[in-house]
Amino acid sequence: MNIAVIGTGYVGLVTGVCLAEIGHSVTCLDIDEEKVSLLNHGRSPIFEEGLEDLLGKNLRRGRLEFTTDYEEGLAGKEVVYLAVGTPETADGSADLTFIEAASRAIAGHLKQNAVIVTKSTVPVGTNQSIKRMIEAELAEPVQIRIVSNPEFLRQGTAVQDTFHGERIVIGSDDPIALELLEEINRPFQLPIVKTDLRSAEMIKYASNAFLAAKISFINEMAHLCAHVGANVDNVAEGMGMDSRIGSKFLQAGLGYGGSCFPKDTNALIAMGRSHDYPMPLLGSVQHVNENQREWLVEMIQARLGSLEGKTIALLGLTFKPNTDDMRESPAIRVAEKLQAAGAMLRGYDPVAVSRARQLMPAEIMLTDNLQEAVQAADCAVIVTDWKQIKDLPLTEYARLLASPLLFDGRNCFALKDAEASEIEYHSIGRPTVNSSRAVTSLASH
Ligand SMILES: NC(=O)c1ccc[n+]([C@@H]2O[C@H](COP(=O)([O-])OP(=O)(O)OC[C@H]3O[C@@H](n4cnc5c(N)ncnc54)[C@H](O)[C@@H]3O)[C@@H](O)[C@H]2O)c1
Repeated sequence: MNIAVIGTGYVGLVTGVCLAEIGHSVTCLDIDEEKVSLLNHGRSPIFEEGLEDLLGKNLRRGRLEFTTDYEEGLAGKEVVYLAVGTPETADGSADLTFIEAASRAIAGHLKQNAVIVTKSTVPVGTNQSIKRMIEAELAEPVQIRIVSNPEFLRQGTAVQDTFHGERIVIGSDDPIALELLEEINRPFQLPIVKTDLRSAEMIKYASNAFLAAKISFINEMAHLCAHVGANVDNVAEGMGMDSRIGSKFLQAGLGYGGSCFPKDTNALIAMGRSHDYPMPLLGSVQHVNENQREWLVEMIQARLGSLEGKTIALLGLTFKPNTDDMRESPAIRVAEKLQAAGAMLRGYDPVAVSRARQLMPAEIMLTDNLQEAVQAADCAVIVTDWKQIKDLPLTEYARLLASPLLFDGRNCFALKDAEASEIEYHSIGRPTVNSSRAVTSLASH
């Protein structure tokens, strides 16, 4: 099949590369010249495991190309995937500016009948508007059909998720388009859920909102665990073994971030608002999530007192491990709060130092060397559970820090390991370990 993919971000690039890998002939199009030039040289602008290998392989096979030119990108394409961003507007609703611009460009350059496939996450009803918009502006008398094919990949495991995902959702009110999408996706050998157009759009939002709710649920339990002296990880384990509940997304921590959950819950609430339904459950999910960052900072302040002049190592800056994406990362809010309280910050991340420079407070010292960040700091704060951070033994943290004090916002270490080490260890919804270890060294610092 001849396919064009519009937008080469996390979703578009992975989609284009993987469609080429299963045998389709793919042209990816982006308005970002720098990205397209990198991609044409076989270099991925994003960090995603396995992506660059597949990119190079399919460029060499001649199944994949990149362009900034719509005329060239759409020439002879029977299927056009839309994978541009749908960020958040000031009132929380989805910003469809990029979708609209891409739709207009498609309308202006399409010279043959085509099926438009929307991968971008868009509010219910948007696909119908896209179809109307393209039809109203078509430069040639061609026929278009529309399909919603929401994306469920997770950044960090995007390639793996594309080949081994749990389902592919395709929604359309047009049986011919549905059948074509089924055929395109057949080589992935994954279960395919076929629905009407609006239900497919809704499935994406409902799925993300449910996962966000699960995270906030366990974080709310973590607060109560901290008050009553229970261990939230044990609680999650005991809950998660019930298959009606499931163990995934039950890790207490600093809450969700990234480019999807925050904006998609907001967009869903905005959708509710426009239909006079306030979505009270989701409002609480967001409230609990925001509160997690505050809770960690309060924990640090309660332990250290004034943060004026204290050096704090912030470990892990991306919104989750194995990605370089810092959009809505909890690290940003935590850093702002700690700095406002007078702390001197050092930030460590194995891949996102240059992105962090644009998003973090200017005064923060940034490094991709974990030991350098921790060395002689008054305490360390784990924000993102990168493997490098989990692999450094607690005895090493204790040895490197000026005072052996660790706040773990992701519950990376077992309490029994913390107990066996020299470190005073605070985590989320679990009892504090070695409570007074850091007292002497802090006092003398
Ligand atoms: N990132 C994820 O994990 C993820 C997962 C599932 C769904 N989604 C959804 O997929 C969509 C894309 O997300 P993303 O993270 O890949 O976004 P992104 O911001 O990483 O990439 C979007 C790309 O579109 C390009 N673009 C913008 N306007 C264009 C135009 N008119 N023509 C051509 N290219 C244009 C941009 O230059 C950019 O490269 C969003 O709706 C998002 O909600 C994202």
